Amino acid sequence: MFEYAPAPESRAIVDIKPSYGLFIDGEFVDGTGKAFKTINPATEEVLAEVAEASDADVDAAVKAARRAYTRVWSRMSGAERAKYLYRIARIIQERGRELAVLESIDNGKPIKESRDVDIPVVAAHFFYYAGWADKLEHSGYGSTPLGVAGQIIPWNFPLLMLAWKIAPALACGNTVVLKPAETTPLTALLFAEICQQADLPPGVVNIVTGAGETGRAIVSHPDVDKVAFTGSTDVGKAIARAVAGTDKKVTLELGGKAANIVFDDAPLDQAIEGIVNGIFFNQGHVCCAGSRLLVQESVADEVMERLKRRMATLRVGDPLDKNTDVGAINSAEQLAKIRELSDIGEAEGAERWSAPCELPSNGYWFAPTVFTGVSQAHRIAREEIFGPVLSVLTFRTPSEAIEKANNTPFGLSAGVWTDKGSRILSMANRLRAGVVWANTFNKFDPTSPFGGYKESGYGREGGRHGLEGYLKGEDS
Ligand code: NAI
Ligand code: MG
Repeated sequence: MFEYAPAPESRAIVDIKPSYGLFIDGEFVDGTGKAFKTINPATEEVLAEVAEASDADVDAAVKAARRAYTRVWSRMSGAERAKYLYRIARIIQERGRELAVLESIDNGKPIKESRDVDIPVVAAHFFYYAGWADKLEHSGYGSTPLGVAGQIIPWNFPLLMLAWKIAPALACGNTVVLKPAETTPLTALLFAEICQQADLPPGVVNIVTGAGETGRAIVSHPDVDKVAFTGSTDVGKAIARAVAGTDKKVTLELGGKAANIVFDDAPLDQAIEGIVNGIFFNQGHVCCAGSRLLVQESVADEVMERLKRRMATLRVGDPLDKNTDVGAINSAEQLAKIRELSDIGEAEGAERWSAPCELPSNGYWFAPTVFTGVSQAHRIAREEIFGPVLSVLTFRTPSEAIEKANNTPFGLSAGVWTDKGSRILSMANRLRAGVVWANTFNKFDPTSPFGGYKESGYGREGGRHGLEGYLKGEDS
């Protein structure tokens, strides 16, 4: 293909410390447990040692959150809380480049995405929910907070998932104990510094790092009033079981296997870009990724030809290079899972094609890949791969497209590409998915609710609906 000069973003702006403690009651403190390492998945370089919060540490964090809730945060007027949220939002904008570079280093995502998508949308969430803080009586969900929220987030959008969780919780008057994922703790710890910089009262936000055990300690802590989780369906089910029979309120945002449906009257150039964005954005580490392409039979050959041509131009490599389209796979574990499911796809008889790109020798990489000849029974059509791997199925009629799109245990998102507005509306009505995009894909906006049906979870995040999970409701 082409030779390009590298255009790396400088990492001089970030100051990564050799080790990090936990953020409890407004201070960084040593954990009482072990420590673990976080690495740069593009190079396998160890970035820092991070404390693994023990049960005792989680208990200290919950106690700090409870004190802050009772003494300060729930007593403060909504307008006062809003000032802190606005301040945090503005600091996120001011320190946007630092946050974006750190996110790309710890996560592996391309800088153009962390810079142009993740961080701006993070700031937008804090601005948006700051606006609700003094208007909760108009929310339709009452204005009484729940108390202490335990929040557990994944590694695919580390700071964005933090914003989705923390901004509405704080706006509603709750305090939080949040656990970032074990492979991507660094931007959450920088966010803790931002809370200090914003003079947020101690204990309103507590960040405890660690893996599954730390997550379990948060979920099962008796003084946590609300559990908010984004991650795998298996862990989501375990959390639902753990809180069953308690008073804890739960929202779960789990996996997906979205259909991206292309009709023969679609504007094909835009559709190709939408297919690429749908599955290769963020290396396909996206719960709402358009991982099943349903293309109308009459244009299937043309779409596949154009798609492969476009995929061959995707630039895979250094996440900090401003021209990179596809960065590193987040972890060795995730890479193993992507490889395993892709090998199964081939063994089941689907035809595999990968973009001809050179992959760096260190780090975790997977070339953008597409499978044709996929049938509904194939595991690559049913299971979330969570990587840059697209399965292509064909259909003849709108009804067949609906039947195939809905034939999944998930129901998070879907895409429809067609020239006809009436068809968009009728498809959207019949698709069992929380979000349906038309002639676009992967659009995120704080004013718009996001969430799933079926095994994709329950509850909504974003928009007015996102307040419901953090308020007691109209009657209480
Ligand atoms: P995971 O569900 O294990 O991890 C998500 C978060 O939950 C992390 O913070 C983790 O430390 C925590 N956690 C793990 N076990 C827990 C437990 N028993 N109790 C409480 N918290 C716990 O997901 P993982 O292993 O990182 O990825 C596995 C698969 O899950 C991926 O391949 C992908 O298919 C899916 N996934 C979906 C995401 C989404 O956005 N819906 C995000 C990340 C992964
Ligand atoms: Mg990392």
